[in-house]
Amino acid sequence: MRRAVCPGSFDPVTLGHLDIIGRAARLYDEVVVAVLINKTKQSLFTVEERMDLLAEVTAEHGNVVVDSFHGLLVDYCRAREIPAVVKGLRAISDFDYELQMAQMNFKLAGVETMFMTTNPEFSFLSSSLVKEVARYGGDVSHLLHPLVEKRLTERLDELA
Ligand code: PNS
Repeated sequence: MRRAVCPGSFDPVTLGHLDIIGRAARLYDEVVVAVLINKTKQSLFTVEERMDLLAEVTAEHGNVVVDSFHGLLVDYCRAREIPAVVKGLRAISDFDYELQMAQMNFKLAGVETMFMTTNPEFSFLSSSLVKEVARYGGDVSHLLHPLVEKRLTERLDELA
């Protein structure tokens, strides 16, 4: 069974993430979408809320499972016998840091990283920019799954 992990914060999941997850799901038997539990980083959605959203919007793929992890990604991969990480590369600016992490993860545990070029339609897209645009009333409907957009609007209304 060929398995890969798509790790990230997913606060919240965007159409850019979903593009990568869906394409990975066509290449691997099972794709684990793993949400990083990072207590030092402020997030808009809790880990559970992010996982629920991810599960709902990836349900169409029968081979995508959602999980969370803390600590090192390579420890998570080792514990679950996942040999590969799939990451989207949006622009050259992503490359420096992603290359460093990929090489470190390989050195630490022999975990491979497969880079997938982001669909150009989403190359400017990030969860933090989406939150900022939405917070100031901008239209993000073309950047998010409708369910995610709904939850984001609700959350921002609650905080307003
Ligand atoms: O969506 P993000 O926040 O850009 O995702 C970053 C993530 C979670 C993939 C990365 O920070 C990560 O793998 N963190 C786990 C901790 C770890 O393994 N650090 C060493 C990386 S070499």
